[in-house]
Amino acid sequence: MTLNAAQQHQALPGVRHFLKDDDITPAQQAEILDLAAKMKADRHAHRPLAGPKSVAVVFEKPSTRTRLSFDVGIAELGGHSVVIDAQSTQLGRGESVADTARVLSRYVSAIVIRTFGDDRIAELAEPATVPVVNALTDGWHPCQLLADLQTIAEHRPLKGTSIAYLGDAAFNMGNSTVIASSLAGMHVRVGAPEGYQPAAEVLERAARINAATGGSVTVTADPVEAVAGADVVSTDAWVSMGMADSAKRFGELHAYQLNAGLLAHAADDAIVLHCLPAHRGEEITDECLDGPQSRVFDQAENRLHAQKALLAWLVKESQ
Ligand code: CP
Ligand code: NVA
Repeated sequence: MTLNAAQQHQALPGVRHFLKDDDITPAQQAEILDLAAKMKADRHAHRPLAGPKSVAVVFEKPSTRTRLSFDVGIAELGGHSVVIDAQSTQLGRGESVADTARVLSRYVSAIVIRTFGDDRIAELAEPATVPVVNALTDGWHPCQLLADLQTIAEHRPLKGTSIAYLGDAAFNMGNSTVIASSLAGMHVRVGAPEGYQPAAEVLERAARINAATGGSVTVTADPVEAVAGADVVSTDAWVSMGMADSAKRFGELHAYQLNAGLLAHAADDAIVLHCLPAHRGEEITDECLDGPQSRVFDQAENRLHAQKALLAWLVKESQ
């Protein structure tokens, strides 16, 4: 039987996307983190994209870490990256993400995209015949959480470790911290005021995951209760990309600032995480960001290793 051109470009049954943290199982998350640690230990020994296979990395929002770590990581895997600002392409003139995905799938082995709504990345992934990776949407930042978990695992075993997440827990970093940490069997304590707590749907998904992994999620409006005895303390910007800068948000979140006084309630050997970019003096103070408990620059480095492992795994699984 001869396939026509369109049939030849249908997605293979096994094509895997990574649009949110629980698109992988706990065992698959552990496998990717194990590979990331191996890639970090021997940075140039893994070349699954040799050929080179190309990867499109598309940005509809600004980026430093994600852009650089994917670009460098794809090169280290033996591949070729095509890093694109969407505004400079026909996406900026309204071409649909679905048609863009159909075209890019003819050129590249994976599509990495940073965009706004999760409906937009879902619309792109639907017709894509190669893996699509979420490099941050409004709802999720799953690549960041792979790096966060790699960083925590360098400090202590993930299962049973507690992580306090402070501030805006209703957006991408809060959601991904809840779900990815649950997959790892961790205990998440969200410290956020009403209006900034994870949606019921996210907490229900976490509860289903935790029934299998032994993790847990608690939500409190009391920042001290969230941090008390925690092994890891993490936070993120109060005003994320795409949000209007508002005095209201600062007023409602200022009690959740990660500062030395709040950190003193955590475990003595607790580590501090922040996905960066930081807004020093807002959600986190210099003393926490630059202090001895900070692991934020290891965390930024681990974006590279974790994403290399993710791409290698997705391409292998999608063959
Ligand atoms: N943490 C993170 O995603 O950083 P960038 O916005 O610089 O990519
Ligand atoms: N929540 C932040 C994360 C930046 C990496 C944002 O979406 O802007």
